[in-house]
Amino acid sequence: MKIIMLGAPGAGKGTQAKMIAKEYGVPHVSTGDIFRANIKNGTELGMEAKKYMDQGLLVPDELTVRILLDRVAQEDCKRGYVLDGFPRTIPQAEVLEQALTELGDQIDYAIDVDVPDENIIKRMSGRRACLTCGATYHIEHIPPRQEGICDTCGSPLVLRDDDKPETVKNRLDVYHKQTQPLIDFYAKKGVLRTVDGTKPMEEVFGAIRAILA
Ligand code: AP5
Repeated sequence: MKIIMLGAPGAGKGTQAKMIAKEYGVPHVSTGDIFRANIKNGTELGMEAKKYMDQGLLVPDELTVRILLDRVAQEDCKRGYVLDGFPRTIPQAEVLEQALTELGDQIDYAIDVDVPDENIIKRMSGRRACLTCGATYHIEHIPPRQEGICDTCGSPLVLRDDDKPETVKNRLDVYHKQTQPLIDFYAKKGVLRTVDGTKPMEEVFGAIRAILA
């Protein structure tokens, strides 16, 4: 099962991708998480990606495509995966399609988690992230058991640098210009499905489960 999660920043792609990964036993592959892990570890890739991420801009396609294709070539992705945050541009989608076609394979579903811009800024300012294990919380909707501490690994939770309101606005602009065209791209391929991401997360997951059944 090969799934792509589409949607604006903060729509809940990561939240749903983790639920899909758990229920269907496929890896959750997030380019954002890969970049953040590299930033945390001070790698060259991380330092390069950070220059773009801090401004709410996309990391250049050459860099992103390379890390994604390396990741999905790993053994644990043989049975499928759920991609979260990739592709984000038409050229990225074309490279992925070509790589899959060469393997005689294709994407099964591109799931668009639809949330209007008005809801996004509020959600992002309440998000808290664990940069050690990748877990995500929300101060109102999914608070950690102990304030500021990750339930899973005990590390401190942070407001991501790119979740500050002025950067979120840039990310939304970039989304509308560069990523939203993917909705048409996958609709034309007949694999697009849309879920209402404004509903509570269990309800959103119920809609996704119905699609994947
Ligand atoms: P990335 O990490 O992919 O960020 P994003 O797409 O902007 O998505 P987010 O992680 O911010 O949000 P999400 O949709 O996963 O929402 P979440 O589930 O956390 O990318 C970061 C940056 O890396 C990019 O800006 C770019 O610079 C770079 N990058 C990454 N991939 C790239 C690529 N392919 N090409 C180029 N550059 C790339 O939910 C958000 C909050 O809402 C959480 O607090 C959550 O708890 C809460 N929530 C979720 N669902 C609900 C619900 N149903 N109701 C209420 N609250 C909810």
